[in-house]
Amino acid sequence: MTASQRTDSDAALRQVWGAEKYAKNARFVSDMTSEVVSWLAPRPGEHILDLGCGDGALTEKLLQAGAVVVGADNSEALLAAARRRGLDVRFKDGQALDFGPVFDAVFSNAALHWMTRADDVVKGVARALKKGGRFVAEFGGHGNIAAIVTALRATAIVHGKDPALAAGWFYPTPAEYRALLEANGFSVDKIGLFPRPTPLPTGLRGWLSTFRESYFEQWPERERGQIISEIEDLLAPSLRDKSGNWTADYVRLRVAAVRA
Ligand code: BEZ
Repeated sequence: MTASQRTDSDAALRQVWGAEKYAKNARFVSDMTSEVVSWLAPRPGEHILDLGCGDGALTEKLLQAGAVVVGADNSEALLAAARRRGLDVRFKDGQALDFGPVFDAVFSNAALHWMTRADDVVKGVARALKKGGRFVAEFGGHGNIAAIVTALRATAIVHGKDPALAAGWFYPTPAEYRALLEANGFSVDKIGLFPRPTPLPTGLRGWLSTFRESYFEQWPERERGQIISEIEDLLAPSLRDKSGNWTADYVRLRVAAVRA
């Protein structure tokens, strides 16, 4: 991608993935997946692409179901962790997939909201699927982490910083995503939004430090702890329980479609 092609959302989404930090603060990403895996219903021997495979925790589960699975991700750190599990994974930009029609299914969990050029993603998925192949995905949908984003925006505004760095992810409505799929030759079997309150094992602080580094870089390092405390104060009444446990206001868009 050239500098002139970068958008505001690219700046907001700049993300350096660290395999250990990810495993510690975000293991729930691969743990809370039984529904989307049941929508995929992987069959022994079929060829599946796991798009945005991360450290391969879920890729491994698909493999255990007997499928032949290739993982794709654009983080070398996470791919290295996936290779340590013995998985076949490739470095790929999900917005420029170059696979031919070799897969029976393309699967994706918690990755597509990072890829803001959704039309390019869907075109690449269509190219990678055999005729009649399935596309099953779950990712952030409309309204995802709305409270967290609003608190980040408000805090940036109060401090004279850039609120756009609070967000930038792709969180479509089902109607919007259905239209995108149909325009690219898919027939949609099921699609919907599913609120999924998600416990944060390392609290809001752990989540923010894993996923919003580019937002906090607006402040000198010595001030960041205080900024996080202000964000926690704003969000505690809605996202922290009486015992001090944090739950994020996740909303998932889940979809199953077929390449016609
Ligand atoms: C999500 O899975 O919805 C998500 C993960 C990290 C940052 C933002 C959203």
